[in-house]
Amino acid sequence: MDEAALQQALTDTQNLGEMPDADAVGTVGSPDCGDMVRLWIKYKEKDGRKVIDKASFQSFGCQTAIAVASIATELIRGKTKEEALSMSAEDLSKPLGPLPPMKIHCGQMVEGALRAALEAESKPAATSAAPIVSDQSGTLADALTAAGKTQGKIKIVLTS
Ligand code: FES
Repeated sequence: MDEAALQQALTDTQNLGEMPDADAVGTVGSPDCGDMVRLWIKYKEKDGRKVIDKASFQSFGCQTAIAVASIATELIRGKTKEEALSMSAEDLSKPLGPLPPMKIHCGQMVEGALRAALEAESKPAATSAAPIVSDQSGTLADALTAAGKTQGKIKIVLTS
């Protein structure tokens, strides 16, 4: 991993924060470390295609996860859902260089949150694929607080 690129991505963190008018949201927890990422997506029509207008994220995760999420929210702008779905964790973290083995799951967690958001938008809520975290409203902090109060409300699934 390129340490300078990582520090640069952290210094210039993009698109951090909740997006109240988002069209879709996805949340993933990493079984490897217990960290979490939530990612919001807003679409727009451009040249007759529905593309990602903007994306934002919140993360309770390590620096690598934050950097990858920041980069990912920029990389997917202007892409269709299908184009974004075709991006791997490796694609999303490419500006950081190859991640060391113990950090690969950090990129996979961001990929998982992105996939959850992309797939959540295309299916009715009742039948959406594997709700990764049951409470998608509010901030990630709200979800964690609620989970602490209600015990076991957050469902963690494997992201790979
Ligand atoms: S160590 Fe948990 S996301 Fe990176």
